[in-house]
Amino acid sequence: MLWWEMALIAIGAYALTILVLSLRNPETHIDWSKQDLENLKFPSDFSWGVATASHQIEGDNQNNWSQFESSQGLEASGSACDHWNRWKDDFDLIGNLNVGYYRFSLEWSRVQPQEGEWDEVAIQQYSEMVDNLLARNIEPMVTLHHFSHPIWFQNKGGFEVEANVEDWIVFSQKMFEVLSDRVKWWCTINEPAVFTTMGYVLGEFPPGARSFKQTRAVATNMMRAHARCYRTLKSMPRGDDVQIGLVKNINIFDPYRRWNLVHWVQAKLLDEMFNRCWLRGLRNGRFRAPSSLFSTKIPGLKGSSDFIGVNYYTHLLATPFMPTTVEIDPLIRPWEERTDFRYPMYAEGLRRSFDMVANLKMPIFVTENGVADDDDDMRPEHIRRHLWITANAISDGMDIRGFYHWSLMDNFEWAEGYTQRFGLYHVNFETQERTLKDSGQLYADVVKDNTLPQVVILAGGLGTRLGEISESIPKSLIEVNGKPMLTHILDWALCQGCRKALVLTGHLGEMFDDFTHRGMSLTFHQEPEPLGTGGALWNAKHLLDDEFILLWGDDFHPIDYNSIVSDHRQKAAPLTMTVTESHESMNLRHQDGQVIVYDKANPKANFNGYEAGTSIVKKSVIETHGREGKWSWEETIYTALAGKMNAYVDNTAFWDMGTPERLSRFGEFLKQGGP
Ligand code: BGC
Repeated sequence: MLWWEMALIAIGAYALTILVLSLRNPETHIDWSKQDLENLKFPSDFSWGVATASHQIEGDNQNNWSQFESSQGLEASGSACDHWNRWKDDFDLIGNLNVGYYRFSLEWSRVQPQEGEWDEVAIQQYSEMVDNLLARNIEPMVTLHHFSHPIWFQNKGGFEVEANVEDWIVFSQKMFEVLSDRVKWWCTINEPAVFTTMGYVLGEFPPGARSFKQTRAVATNMMRAHARCYRTLKSMPRGDDVQIGLVKNINIFDPYRRWNLVHWVQAKLLDEMFNRCWLRGLRNGRFRAPSSLFSTKIPGLKGSSDFIGVNYYTHLLATPFMPTTVEIDPLIRPWEERTDFRYPMYAEGLRRSFDMVANLKMPIFVTENGVADDDDDMRPEHIRRHLWITANAISDGMDIRGFYHWSLMDNFEWAEGYTQRFGLYHVNFETQERTLKDSGQLYADVVKDNTLPQVVILAGGLGTRLGEISESIPKSLIEVNGKPMLTHILDWALCQGCRKALVLTGHLGEMFDDFTHRGMSLTFHQEPEPLGTGGALWNAKHLLDDEFILLWGDDFHPIDYNSIVSDHRQKAAPLTMTVTESHESMNLRHQDGQVIVYDKANPKANFNGYEAGTSIVKKSVIETHGREGKWSWEETIYTALAGKMNAYVDNTAFWDMGTPERLSRFGEFLKQGGP
């Protein structure tokens, strides 16, 4: 073969390799100016949250980090956000963001300041924090290791020594015993790849080492620790009732020059070390630590997660000369914008992260996403783009269950100290004053737009027509299949994504004392005397949101709330009523999408629908047409709004408790599996 033939073959092979690599690993870039980022739509049961970590906010922690800060002359975390003392006020801030979830970490060095010594006061405080969150209807998600641990543990070699894993398991067990009756969401380790690389390759996190040998040991021990933690907690009482997962940061690596094979090799190597080896380990139980040639089988690792937490921040462009310190700016594409951390905003990488974890076949939560942006001029766009990516991935069928913004408030950003501000709230570290940023308001608004309205239940009606079953207790408290009707109604509302309900209890309100429903914040309101359905709503005017879902306490109506609420909002109607056309009798006439006449007492021959029980109401309807005293909702409001009420036709069967026969039919339906 001639030399030029060989050269041609080599060039062809090179070009082909680059082509295949490029086609298989596209670096997506979206033209954001063409996307509608304003109207983001999420499932109504999507979990909205914010996230923090103990060492970054609590203040005055004595741990591997505080030790490292002083030994390296780094900015000291000091009192951080003084959250350990201000947690109640900070929980108000979470509530104001409309979110229903809060991810935070437990500071091991507080709980176990010395080996074998538990600080019961600290444990008690974490327990109170959990109670307080639940009382606000905010579900806690607890992280057991978020970069920080006690000094005594570090002095023993921390995760460098396999035998030390036991110490962390003991701590995890202890906290699980205390909190698992209330905490349903657990994260084992936050970002083991970041902890390992920053602490043992780049030396920027404690213990500041630079050793591949130690990196391999720590990485493997962290995976052992995660697997053991998962298996241990799962085998404890209540282990089956909780969800436990690993939180994995995904860094996307792209070759700087897409025609340069060396850049491709570098990108692939980094992708393997940061992402793939960890995810593969979780999938098949064998872990090949970064820079290791061999894999190790880790008992219990395979499938050791009920969900996968994805922390996503950016992509990095790989060359053999990439900067390894934050002092030098990483390479970016010319059209990309740098965040304060100097790496670019690249929301497209979030979708690529979802694609990367998808073959674990686990529900995905974005457990962290946010941006360092001192003046808050990039964060609104950052939020919109990442939420747009998430909403799109969901509509493409990906199983993404929630999104936790990083972070609730500005805080101690590890090696960067207080220079990088990630919060939805600005924190003045001198005065500890917190101020909501525009981006925080934006996030709160998106959450609100994607959260179902308040549920209002008219639960005071008595079971007079139920004969012997009851004449003196509200129908909604009568049990069907072992649970009060009200519980069945709330179960449905909760599974639809509703999180708060106002229960109008009639004049026998005491009977609802002690009634609770996990996940639902309940307010009860009693009448001084029987006021009728309309009077009951007027009487509770001050507790009504501007828009609410109105339900009858004796009807079980399992329809899709999301779709009726969107229909209502789209039509901008004052009231939307569900109309069923398949019923034994008819009590209304609807035409061209509106309810024209309603008459319960004298049904007419030309009636073509029946009110099926679920309505969406604007509070202004009550303010305009209501009055003091006793009055009927149907007679007054349906008459006043005839021709203006939106008719939402849905033929889902509904179950009422009108008579003992109907009640037993409902019981039968539930026995057969219900909705
Ligand atoms: C960490 C956080 C950190 C954030 C922003 C994540 O990798 O879990 O603790 O503050 O990145 O850099």
